[in-house]
Amino acid sequence: EVFKNSLHASQVVAEEIASLIRQRQGLGKMAVLGLATGSTPIKVYEELVRMHREDGLSFRNVITFNLDEYYPMDPGSIHSYHRFMQEHLFDHIDIEPENVHIPNGQLSEEQIKKYCLSYENKIEEAGGLDIQVLGIGRTGHIGFNEPGSSLTSKTRLIRLDRVTQLDAASDFFGLEYVPQRAITMGVGTIMKARKVILMAWGEGKSAVIQESVEGEITESVPATFLQHHPNCLFILDEAAASSL
Ligand code: GLP
Repeated sequence: EVFKNSLHASQVVAEEIASLIRQRQGLGKMAVLGLATGSTPIKVYEELVRMHREDGLSFRNVITFNLDEYYPMDPGSIHSYHRFMQEHLFDHIDIEPENVHIPNGQLSEEQIKKYCLSYENKIEEAGGLDIQVLGIGRTGHIGFNEPGSSLTSKTRLIRLDRVTQLDAASDFFGLEYVPQRAITMGVGTIMKARKVILMAWGEGKSAVIQESVEGEITESVPATFLQHHPNCLFILDEAAASSL
């Protein structure tokens, strides 16, 4: 779906999330959301916060799982995805802290394998992801599933692509400060979500969007795996859709 601008597109995504939450509330059930970071979903979170404040939307029946976190990373750091989520969403809504899950970038390498397995298990125990929200990186990564990630990959520690590190350099005030690695849900984890919504704004994303939607399915562009997903929606502004 192509929208004139990213604000309207973000409102439509927020409304879809809110209606899932309300529908589950009506049934006395939980809604399970997979969440993303980066600049792309910020307006969706702003809109959800507005709905909480002005329309009484409650998040008490919501469980969230974030896609990824840099490794190593202190959750209190200004660069952490923990901090990002607190600032853009969780500090402003009534979600129960125990229902929030973000990969822990502070574990030792020996702990990580077990931790990643337990992250997968927690998603399963929650009943699986109802909606997974995604942005996309210039390498075609979803979460931090860089080129070479397989269709069945699970939550794991990965090495960041050079292009991704370059894109993150200004946030970290220099390439030398960008972490080399990250913990990310796998492509397989994302593919199990009942609905996937990938958002992209701006001309800078148009080439990777064209490859993801129209290119052949390949590990070199992990977002192309979404072509296999039975219920995946790309929400784009006109600039991001301009090469389709
Ligand atoms: C990071 C995140 C991705 C995100 C991507 C794009 O690499 N791990 O989840 O999709 O950045 O970022 P932006 O939305 O700022 O373009």
